[in-house]
Amino acid sequence: MALMITGGSGKLGRELVKLYPDSLHPAHKELDITDRGTVFSYVSKHRPKTLIHCAALTGIRQCEENKERAWRVNVEGTENLIDACEKFASDCYFIHISTACVFYGDRGDYVETDVPHPKNYYSLTKLVSEVIVKRSRLRWLIVRTNFVAREPWSYERAFVDRFGTYLFADDLALALKSVIEKGIVGILHVAGEEKLSMYELAKITTPDVKPMSLAEYNGPPLTVDMSLRSIRIPPFKLRKNV
Ligand SMILES: NC(=O)c1ccc[n+]([C@@H]2O[C@H](COP(=O)([O-])OP(=O)(O)OC[C@H]3O[C@@H](n4cnc5c(N)ncnc54)[C@H](OP(=O)(O)O)[C@@H]3O)[C@@H](O)[C@H]2O)c1
Repeated sequence: MALMITGGSGKLGRELVKLYPDSLHPAHKELDITDRGTVFSYVSKHRPKTLIHCAALTGIRQCEENKERAWRVNVEGTENLIDACEKFASDCYFIHISTACVFYGDRGDYVETDVPHPKNYYSLTKLVSEVIVKRSRLRWLIVRTNFVAREPWSYERAFVDRFGTYLFADDLALALKSVIEKGIVGILHVAGEEKLSMYELAKITTPDVKPMSLAEYNGPPLTVDMSLRSIRIPPFKLRKNV
């Protein structure tokens, strides 16, 4: 059974590839999802039965500063994959990785039925891509989540006043595998058990990370509390020591 992963070199994709070593996981240079012709020929050749779509432009600042690129990758790239699957792999189970950032992020504890309200351009492109997936004729699952790589924090400081129900990417990959094995469809929030500040999260891998507050930040608007809950499944464990 062909399982395909886009964005296999990314933070989440790398962990999924470890769990699905036999998967098709074309590199960006082999399959640029913005290139409709290449996407169509790849999908028509491999006809995936399951496709986990992780490829995206994910930097909030990067998307704000390059809106056209963000739109092409996050929106049109998703559209290309959906259209190609509808044409050549119509029984494909399409898993779209989305984000807690589709919500405004002012109150937290968002559930699957809450109304999205993107706060920045990245979030807008992710929400539009969700709509494309939802409108498709495929069997689809949209996973909204919040995660970081299990590696040293990439900044000197981390926010004490920005919150989420985070998982590490390897925890999330395991959670996704269990969800996929159950064949769950529709919109699903895959959340960690605990609401943590980014600072608390960063300290797990990087004990000497320094605190900072949103008041010290300059950049595109950010969600403050993007914690998720699910009304469909229990939360997953963020493993602190692996
Ligand atoms: N990280 C988070 O905080 C977070 C939270 C919630 C949801 N998400 C969502 O989870 C998914 C995975 O995120 P991530 O953090 O693992 O991403 P990431 O580390 O930024 O990796 C993105 C991946 O997409 C690939 N890619 C970018 N443009 C592409 C294109 N035009 N064609 C083909 N591949 C392309 C990249 O390949 P190259 O590096 O070779 O360009 C890379 O493999 C994304 O959909 C993201 O929106 C992320």
